[in-house]
Formats: sequence, C-alpha cells, structure tokens
Amino acid sequence: MRSVSVAQGADTGRYPFTLPAVRSVIQAGCLELNPGVTLLVGDNGTGKSTLVEALAVAAGFNPEGGSQSFRFATRATESSLGDALVLRWGHTKPRTGYFLRAESFYNVATAGSEQGAGGGGLGFWVAGERPTARSDNDLHVALA
Ligand SMILES: Nc1ncnc2c1ncn2[C@@H]1O[C@H](COP(=O)(O)OP(=O)(O)O)[C@@H](O)[C@H]1O
Ligand SMILES: [Mg+2]
Repeated sequence: MRSVSVAQGADTGRYPFTLPAVRSVIQAGCLELNPGVTLLVGDNGTGKSTLVEALAVAAGFNPEGGSQSFRFATRATESSLGDALVLRWGHTKPRTGYFLRAESFYNVATAGSEQGAGGGGLGFWVAGERPTARSDNDLHVALA
C-alpha cells in the first residue's frame, strides 16, 4: 500500500472526516506510506486508530483483525471511513496479509480457536484451544 486518500465527494464536514488524523490526509491530498514502516503519532482521540481500521477495511481485512479470509464480528466499532478511502498499491498488491488490531486480538484468537486450526490466519493454532492457554506474548511471537 503506497498511499491513501479520501474519495472526492465524501461529506467531509462530519465525523469521521473531522478527526484531526483524517483531516490531515484530506488537507495534504494523500498520505504517502513508506514501503517499510509508517508511524502515526498524535494525541489520544485524534483519529489514528480510526484511520488505521479504515485502511484495513478498505484493503479487505476483517475490521476486528485477522487475515483477509477471516470473517467474524463481535461488536462493530469501526467507522464508515473505510468506504471513503482510496488506496494506491505498488506494482503488486500482496496476496496475503494480517491486520493485527491490538484491542480486539483476543477476539480474533477466540474466534480462531473456535474455527479450528488456522482460523484467523493463526496457522499455529490448536483447534479447541482457548486463547487463555497462551500468553499475549506467546501469541504475538507465534504470529510473527
Ligand atoms: N460516532 C462518533 N461521532 C463522533 N465522534 C466519535 C464517534 N465515535 C468515536 N468518536 C471519537 O473519535 C475519536 C476516535 O479516536 P481514535 O481513532 O480512537 O483516536 P486515537 O487512536 O488517535 O487515540 C475519539 O475522540 C472518539 O470520541
Ligand atoms: Mg488509538
């Protein structure tokens, strides 16, 4: 993913477009994403998470996290911003990926264990195993 912009014609006078993080993307025309790592920095509540969750949705990921093919939902908290984002990809769009959303990773791990081995892209998962059987660190290291 090389850059993200907000679609022409979006009603930018209201939430979530009025959040500072989204407003900066609109004002700059687009947000260029470094091929390595991009860090978003800003005060709490300025819309960093809202923007990242919308990027994930626009890229075809489950809003709560997981791999592209993973579909489950506990409680929808994402905004509608994902529908209004225009993504620009490099020469090749990666065919695999993983949206690691920290605040809902436990939900992904729980749904993954219920779906059996490989659920949620968690290839290391043992079917039926509860997420509590592993520490957060174990889960993150196994995912990496
Ligand atoms: N439906 C809504 N209408 C207006 N503001 C909202 C709504 N839902 C969430 N917000 C606000 O949007 C902001 C979201 O911030 P968030 O993306 O979590 O920021 P960050 O990750 O930078 O801390 C919060 O300030 C929250 O109060
Ligand atoms: Mg946040």
